[in-house]
Amino acid sequence: MNNEEKVCLITGASSGIGYAIAKALNADGYKLILSGRRAEKLNELRSAFTDILPGDLNSTEYQDFMEDHIYQKYGKCDYLFNCAGTLEVGTIEEINIDKMTAMIRLNVESTFRISYKMLKRFKAQGYGHIINISSVLGTKVRPTAGAYAATKFAVEALSEALRMELSGTNIQVSCIEPGLVMTELHKDWKVHPKESMMINEPLNVNDIVNAVYYILKQPGHVRIPKLMILPKDHHI
Ligand SMILES: NC(=O)c1ccc[n+]([C@@H]2O[C@H](COP(=O)([O-])OP(=O)(O)OC[C@H]3O[C@@H](n4cnc5c(N)ncnc54)[C@H](OP(=O)(O)O)[C@@H]3O)[C@@H](O)[C@H]2O)c1
Repeated sequence: MNNEEKVCLITGASSGIGYAIAKALNADGYKLILSGRRAEKLNELRSAFTDILPGDLNSTEYQDFMEDHIYQKYGKCDYLFNCAGTLEVGTIEEINIDKMTAMIRLNVESTFRISYKMLKRFKAQGYGHIINISSVLGTKVRPTAGAYAATKFAVEALSEALRMELSGTNIQVSCIEPGLVMTELHKDWKVHPKESMMINEPLNVNDIVNAVYYILKQPGHVRIPKLMILPKDHHI
């Protein structure tokens, strides 16, 4: 299949990792459905190949709208990139409980819901690929990151269950586990984790794009269920 024939839904496309993946795939001619709340950021990616569908991923109506749009316009979807996510930190005792539950809603519930929805479509069409952006914190817990890690452990569980449930089919799942990447995720932090974790050179979004292309370029008989990518100084 040529790139122009491949249809991708990218959540979290208005910033950071999702934006970078969208920019790269856009340049390569993939057909893209781009999701995020900030229309002005999504509009920076507007091209002949992009459908800009701003909205809140926590809304089931919005998820239904995106699904209907894709299948009415293209009749298929090849890739779902689950990039939307947020990060709330603090000890379990002191974390802002309302922000924490909002994070769980987006990182877990909305990710499961859109995956559930698109999986049914992938089953009907007989192929498809879900690419989840998890985290190194989907594999280990750190103090003050327990709640965020819990959301990423959930993404890992989703991915691992799907890997087994979909074995032998042409539907696959890949879970990327980045360490620290320079994006807007930590923009409100008083001390950036680059300083507190003593990481001189964090990952940049293109490192994650390279990981995505590694996954996309594999032949049909190969599966990449997990791919951890860390900065050189990551020491824990
Ligand atoms: N940066 C890192 O160090 C790092 C490391 C490991 C894993 N990750 C994971 O990578 C993923 C992407 O994060 P990032 O670093 O690229 O952060 P980012 O720059 O803050 O991007 C987050 C994206 O999620 C979207 N989003 C947030 N709430 C949303 C909502 N309610 N509805 C729809 N979209 C929503 C944002 O769009 P709007 O604000 O426009 O809605 C934005 O596009 C996340 O799952 C994160 O956990 C990041």
